[in-house]
Amino acid sequence: MKVEKIMVVGAGQMGSGIAQVCAQAGYDVILNDLNLQLTEQGKNTIRINLLRQVNKNLMKTEEMEAILSLISLSTNLEDARDVDFVIEAAVENMNIKTQIFRELDRITPEHTILASNTSSLPITEIAAATNRPEKVIGMHFMNPVPVMKLVEIIRGLATADEVYETIETITKTLEKVPVEVNDFPGFVSNRVLMPMINEAVFALYEGVASREAIDEVMKLGMNYPMGPLTLADFIGLDTCLYIMETLHEGLGEDKYRPCPLLRKYVKAGWLGRKAGRGFYEYK
Ligand code: CAA
Repeated sequence: MKVEKIMVVGAGQMGSGIAQVCAQAGYDVILNDLNLQLTEQGKNTIRINLLRQVNKNLMKTEEMEAILSLISLSTNLEDARDVDFVIEAAVENMNIKTQIFRELDRITPEHTILASNTSSLPITEIAAATNRPEKVIGMHFMNPVPVMKLVEIIRGLATADEVYETIETITKTLEKVPVEVNDFPGFVSNRVLMPMINEAVFALYEGVASREAIDEVMKLGMNYPMGPLTLADFIGLDTCLYIMETLHEGLGEDKYRPCPLLRKYVKAGWLGRKAGRGFYEYK
């Protein structure tokens, strides 16, 4: 399957990162979100990221401009009428995702592959909202997208082999490493990562150590680039809680029970770095 034109739905942290790496690989990209302000913010984030490369002499200004010129902005899903591939990176809400996929199924040509960047929602259920479940697949990028090498590729129950192979090839053209996983709650990345973060929150909640000490143990002791509480703030505490709830509900075991302190912080609006406060304070 030939892919030349891509739409990314959602211009937030993940969507803008995905649009950036797609444009850097030479694809024509439409960056779509609900309004112009959101799409412009997304493109501005991309510009700032590329400018960092220019300032480090890793990229020429003309290269940056060429990459940016491949990204057009859209606030209407109908603009997907001639794309070969859509990557959805909207909010983690099943109703919203199924609504977007239903629309995309109606709008896009028959050959178009529809991927979701969901971090834990079932691909099979998203696919069932369309009349082309064999062309629906999970493509889970890690944050920050331009830096992290992994793309977890999730096969839904009906995903065709040919579609999997196309996505695997595209992932490589983005200079990422594809890893194949099946459709289970949290896939592999969040099934392993989130309980570790949740356990770190329990350690804080139970007074085992201070936030700094917990992070320092994991950074220096395990060589993690960020301690688990810093990482939780980076991901967003609402996202962490949502994924823990998905694991708890989907796998039904007490070991996935979200820590009450995590719930409390989310209720307080202490959502991490994006809110200026989470386990740490950010200026
Ligand atoms: N966007 C783009 N580039 C960024 C970036 C961002 N938000 N943040 C950092 N970078 C780039 C920097 O420009 C720098 O690039 P060069 O090497 O070209 O100079 C490089 O990343 C390293 O950055 P820094 O030197 O500033 O900082 P660092 O060495 O501490 O690295 C980090 C920053 C890459 C974020 C690192 O701390 C890290 O790997 N943290 C863990 C990230 C992680 O675990 N991500 C997965 C989260 S889970 C997830 O995404 C899945 C989910 O579903 C929740």
